Amino acid sequence: MIEVSGVNKTFYLGDSAVHALDNINLIIEQGDYLSVMGPSGSGKSTLLNMLGLLDRPDEGSYLLNGVDTMSLDENERARLRREQIGFVFQSYHLIPRLTARENIELPLMLAGVAAKQRRAEVGVILEKLGISQRAHHLPNQLSGGGASAHRHWPQHRHEAEHPAR
Ligand SMILES: Nc1ncnc2c1ncn2[C@@H]1O[C@H](COP(=O)(O)OP(=O)(O)OP(=O)(O)O)[C@@H](O)[C@H]1O
Ligand SMILES: [Mg+2]
Repeated sequence: MIEVSGVNKTFYLGDSAVHALDNINLIIEQGDYLSVMGPSGSGKSTLLNMLGLLDRPDEGSYLLNGVDTMSLDENERARLRREQIGFVFQSYHLIPRLTARENIELPLMLAGVAAKQRRAEVGVILEKLGISQRAHHLPNQLSGGGASAHRHWPQHRHEAEHPAR
């Protein structure tokens, strides 16, 4: 669950101030599916960067699953990002020299998951994505959909750990 209240973010360019986020209040429940729409420059990327813990607001509060993200240091924010946040970028940011399997496995290695458990989880994720047959292919040998599917890995991983949900 995401709870944002009273969030402000101002950018200064020379002596002009841009209020990219002006008193944002937002609650997103578990399982909600949300689109953020608005004209260019209206603050969509600024909001997503903040929700994704890539940037901090100047003021206000942001609770992610009950955790007050404003009080966390950069290492703690990076850990939360790794464990709870998935980004789907317009470009895939897969590592070109690693296979599909290795690209999925890399963040699990960085998260300190043991080899045996990694193998099991990667197998489940490949299966879910429908690319088990292509586990040993490099990113440029996958279709666009197959490549972008990788980027959801925290969610897939969560489901791999809790298959009943
Ligand atoms: N790093 C920055 N420094 C200065 N101004 C910025 C910075 N990032 C964003 N802005 C300004 O903040 C406002 C909101 O920008 P943002 O990128 O969030 O808009 P957007 O809704 O994502 O636009 P687009 O649809 O073009 O992607 C814009 O006026 C932008 O120029
Ligand atoms: Mg944008």
